Amino acid sequence: MNDLSPAAKLQAKPRLLLADDDEILLDTLRRVLARDNEIFTAENGQEALEVLAACGPFTAIISDLRMPGMDGVELLARVSATAPDTVRLLLTGHADLEAALDAVNQGHVFRILTKPCPPETLRLAVDAAVRQHQLVLASRELFALKRFQGLLEGVVQGFSSLVEARDPYLAGHHQRTTDLALAMARELGLDNTERDTLRIAGLLHDIGKVYVPADFLNRPGVLRSEEFSVIKMHPEVGYDILKHLDRDWPVAVIIRQHHERMDGSGYPHGLSGRYIVQGARLLAVADVVDAMCSHRPYRPSLGIHAALEEIEKGRGRLYDPLMADCCLDLFRNKGYSLAEPVNTA
Ligand SMILES: [Fe+2]
Repeated sequence: MNDLSPAAKLQAKPRLLLADDDEILLDTLRRVLARDNEIFTAENGQEALEVLAACGPFTAIISDLRMPGMDGVELLARVSATAPDTVRLLLTGHADLEAALDAVNQGHVFRILTKPCPPETLRLAVDAAVRQHQLVLASRELFALKRFQGLLEGVVQGFSSLVEARDPYLAGHHQRTTDLALAMARELGLDNTERDTLRIAGLLHDIGKVYVPADFLNRPGVLRSEEFSVIKMHPEVGYDILKHLDRDWPVAVIIRQHHERMDGSGYPHGLSGRYIVQGARLLAVADVVDAMCSHRPYRPSLGIHAALEEIEKGRGRLYDPLMADCCLDLFRNKGYSLAEPVNTA
């Protein structure tokens, strides 16, 4: 059984199965096609199905229409059912055209070749079949990728909800922060990959709070300094949870740095401006705006005006000026607004 990956299959030599009861014709087909393809042969329909089962998958099958026992139309219909990715070509005489057209109309046949088939016509038809097969594989890979993305989306949303379930004051915070971060990213012209990275980082930026005792998160009043020290570990814990993600997706680094500030006054590492990645500088602004607009155990929402004043006041010192300006412009000139936070106070 050929168990090459889809990418490897795209580069491997095409594998052709030729079915014809005429030995001389079979040999002619083999000679024309053997240079660029790996060739398998069968002298009747039943044998072709056995070769398919034992040596498949094949890129394409070329079958004669008239064979004793199972004819070409029936063979290709059965190949269509058991190996739908194998592209099917039918070889026929003019007298059999009606049966061949039926096979095409039923979707069993990609192309009909008429006898006698000149070598160049045969090669062109096989080239077209190989391209068709590559298209089928590529679309299958794309479909699998989309399914995987859907799965990843579900996992990310699930973790995001898990953190928020432990801290009712965080309800909706991840989503609102992400929405604002993505609106800023669009304004700044970040590409699709950067926006996807930012979206996952935004939805999971406080995932490290799963290690903070729920009592610290939900208690009204000011926290003691040792309690606040535990909360300040959440970016590093979040990084530890997600650090094995692909290197090209700096989700974990953005999460680790989302409380760092331009002047080095942030945490957990006190990094200053140029050492903080772009995604973290952007997310920091969105996070502060939504956090100030959210209710907290120790205070009600401070409102959007206070949040924007904070960003303006900290522009350049705490927050990247480019990110701060982008955020202020969105709210003040472009009509952006946060979704209403859930009032749990
Ligand atoms: Fe945070």
